[in-house]
Amino acid sequence: MKVFVTREIPEPGLKILRREFEIEVNPYDRVLSKAEIIKGLQGKDGLLCLLTDTIDKNVIDSEPKLKMISNYAVGYNNIEVEAATKRGIPVSNTPGVLTDATAEMAWALLFSVARRIVEGDSFSRSGKFKGWSPMLLHGQDVSNKTLGIIGAGRIGTAFALKSKGFNMDVLYVSESINETLEHELGAEKVDIHRLLEKSDYISLHVPLDKSTYHMIGEKELKMMKKNSILINTSRGPVIDEKILLKALEEKWIFGAGLDVYENEPEITEGLKKLDNVVLQPHSASATIESRAGMAIMAAKNMVAGLKGEIPPNCINQEVFKKK
Ligand code: GLV
Ligand code: GLV
Repeated sequence: MKVFVTREIPEPGLKILRREFEIEVNPYDRVLSKAEIIKGLQGKDGLLCLLTDTIDKNVIDSEPKLKMISNYAVGYNNIEVEAATKRGIPVSNTPGVLTDATAEMAWALLFSVARRIVEGDSFSRSGKFKGWSPMLLHGQDVSNKTLGIIGAGRIGTAFALKSKGFNMDVLYVSESINETLEHELGAEKVDIHRLLEKSDYISLHVPLDKSTYHMIGEKELKMMKKNSILINTSRGPVIDEKILLKALEEKWIFGAGLDVYENEPEITEGLKKLDNVVLQPHSASATIESRAGMAIMAAKNMVAGLKGEIPPNCINQEVFKKK
């Protein structure tokens, strides 16, 4: 069978795919256009794609042989899953292996903003450091503050648990009670308004869908404390980025740490000029360990799917109930 891989992924994954299939990998170090993906998909049984590829009904229906879609990401808002399900095509993602890496990036961003690490680094390199100063680069304590987690799934939970050493009060927003957080941290499930009003540091860990699009807009940013910091390692469109820019310019909040953007790879121009925001290029899962883990997982899902088995990380299991 034949598999199209829309971009080079770490070797441990490619090795598994090569052993089982004839594979074609995007030869360029860039995102492919929709037309290029459709062309690459011709005559293929499997599609291994990335979060930067829009896999909609047109793409899915362009190849009648297509039998399996394996996304190299935990988020799968880039795929029109319903269209795949209609065709009986399983779709899989890569949960778990990137949980700690993503939670760690959220903490790295939180500390970078709270302690003004990026500003301090530029200051030190530029030769402006003339000696210890009582008034230089005051940031904020992280310990003993209130931490707010919006979305208490795998990553949100891992992020919250890492607060253990910092003696924080933990609030969370989630559809259901998170026993782990309540038991391990004495965390309290609250509604979003209370979380926004009470938290010093807020981290977003929701998937992107209709219910979470622009979940953080003007009203929400205005409810947040003046000293608060907003961290986003989930998906950009969860925040109304234009309003966030205004909030940061006008200091409604202390700062923000962003790994994702509303219109990736574009970043709202004004954000790049501000000192109270730290910007990362959607790299929360970019550790050697996580990316290799994702590659292996995506490849194993592909192997199972093309053998007609249920992929270990299938997100549309109903496909198998129909058969
Ligand atoms: C990264 O953003 C992912 O969804 O894996
Ligand atoms: C800082 O370096 C201190 O000693 O207070």
